[in-house]
Amino acid sequence: MNDWTVTPLAASLGARVDGVRLTDAGDVELGALQNLLDEHHVLVVSGQDEFSVADHVRVGESFGDPYVHPFIDAIPEHPAILQVIKEPDDTETFGGEFWHCDISFTSPPAAVSILHARELPPIGGDTLFANTALAFDRLSPRLQAWVSELTATHVYPGKEEGPSTAATHPVARIHPRTGRRALYVNPAFVIRIEELEREESDALLSFLFTHQTRSEFQVRVRWETGQVVLWDNRTTVHYAMNDYPGHRRRLQRVTALERPR
Ligand code: SIN
Repeated sequence: MNDWTVTPLAASLGARVDGVRLTDAGDVELGALQNLLDEHHVLVVSGQDEFSVADHVRVGESFGDPYVHPFIDAIPEHPAILQVIKEPDDTETFGGEFWHCDISFTSPPAAVSILHARELPPIGGDTLFANTALAFDRLSPRLQAWVSELTATHVYPGKEEGPSTAATHPVARIHPRTGRRALYVNPAFVIRIEELEREESDALLSFLFTHQTRSEFQVRVRWETGQVVLWDNRTTVHYAMNDYPGHRRRLQRVTALERPR
């Protein structure tokens, strides 16, 4: 897009995109955002105060099928827009203090999440992202080959029996658009690697969880009211900071599930 400015935010992932008005984005602009997401994995788009519920759903639909969460409250206006909220007296953040990607316990899993900031604490409440494709690339070739043969079971905690709350995915999943492999495990939803004994699975997962969030694979996103952040859940994990006690933080999220190609 000629009038957009794309500024990388860190060496490993993330870009700020200026000059975009998501409210007016049509197929061409949304296609361009998808291409930028393939390249940068996380996109920060500021100044989207006019971004409406209808815009949010429409942008979400351009990346996949908006997911209606069976256990987390949506906003009254639309079932696919989740409230990501922490009240002043809450002690835990919305997603818990885990690095995770969104909705990995379904098949197909989440493609892209789009988070819109509505109310923010005066300071704090940043979100960290880590590039799990780069983390895969930085494994030794032997370990890359081995983890590429393994699969892991993902479950929504406490709902292990539901058909739509448990799924098995490759430990190093191939991105359907780019063909690039990325680690696809996270401590919020993954319970074990299927081909290994329990102790072996625990040890390998512990290593991969630590490896994929090494500081050199990360970017830190500082929020502004009205800002929209888009990320690819197939190539990133994220962590919301819990460092603003006594303040409210409220964002709205659409997560689009991958469409079979
Ligand atoms: C989420 O886990 O999707 C929310 C991230 C955040 O609150 O920054």
